[in-house]
Amino acid sequence: MQRAKLSIIGAGNVGATCAHWAAIKELGDIVVVDIPEKEGFSQGKMIDLACCGPIEGFDAQLIGTADYKDIAGSDVVIITAGLPRKPGMSRDDLIETNVKIVRSVSEKVAENAPEACVIVVSNPLDAMVYTAWKATGFPTARIMGQAGSLDVARFRTFIAWEIGCSIEDVQALLLGGHGDDMVPLPRLTSVHGIPVSELLPQEKIDACVQRAKVGGGEIVKLMGTSAYYAPASGSVQMAEAIIKDKKRIIPSAAYCDGQFGAKGLFVGVPAMLGAQGVEKIVEFKLEADEQKLFDESSSHVRDLVKIVTDKFPDLA
Ligand code: NAI
Ligand code: 2OP
Repeated sequence: MQRAKLSIIGAGNVGATCAHWAAIKELGDIVVVDIPEKEGFSQGKMIDLACCGPIEGFDAQLIGTADYKDIAGSDVVIITAGLPRKPGMSRDDLIETNVKIVRSVSEKVAENAPEACVIVVSNPLDAMVYTAWKATGFPTARIMGQAGSLDVARFRTFIAWEIGCSIEDVQALLLGGHGDDMVPLPRLTSVHGIPVSELLPQEKIDACVQRAKVGGGEIVKLMGTSAYYAPASGSVQMAEAIIKDKKRIIPSAAYCDGQFGAKGLFVGVPAMLGAQGVEKIVEFKLEADEQKLFDESSSHVRDLVKIVTDKFPDLA
């Protein structure tokens, strides 16, 4: 059986850490692409990672490169190229620089890996997914963004810390864009099936919701740059679902054609991920207050996409 192939664009903090998680999970051969000035840097990182193989017990070819021809035949491409935010910046402040990067990278992905599923990570996430969609011309099922798998993992972590239980027993769902107005859903959060409201007072749940919403900013403030272990872990969770055709339901920025009231928009919703990419959006009825928060978050995503199309009319 031929190994699957995963390509990662951007060999920085998130990109290299995606390669790390994917290698440990033995998802397949891995190619990491960066700009020509950083070709040696990405080559060095992949040799270093390859030398973990004998210790961790994975077989994979790991390539660092600046040549997009090396991504040919990829099953999945993860796009992490772009600037991360610095303290005091919002994800939205990155839009102009990162649209240019994500557009040029996406065009090369379309040319060299035309059958791949693309997972976008660069920020501001939802607008970058839109940019990659327009620049690749790929069907919507093969373009998606990583945000919800990270954001819901943060929410689950904070709930588990509060209760003092294993994170494995905390299940939760989160919708909306990858901004501070994302929508964790306490009503659909449970601990081994027990509603979280039975185990924590409302103010503690509210505090976990709030901490998840600004979780990225908390880390930027502490580290001076943005998070990468959990963002990469979330991205590889999505890649794994596609490569192994698992049909996992993972909150992802997926193209909505009316689901949850969002029309013609990539925004965070529960998506079933398998070999075809986003195979289904799992829709259900939201309570009125949840719908209101989702609509507000979607409207923010729409504003970001408008900034993209106003500044770059060819992406409209
Ligand atoms: P980083 O600065 O460590 O790495 C970015 C890499 O992209 C650099 O190595 C850079 O040389 C490369 N790059 C820039 N232009 C390129 C091009 N045209 N082609 C190929 N490579 C190019 O940044 P980091 O921390 O890895 O973050 C990457 C992006 O991911 C940022 O936009 C950040 O905001 C975003 N992010 C998104 C998250 C999410 O949950 N969606 C979470 C964390 C970060
Ligand atoms: C995060 O949420 C900055 O989007 C990045 O950590």
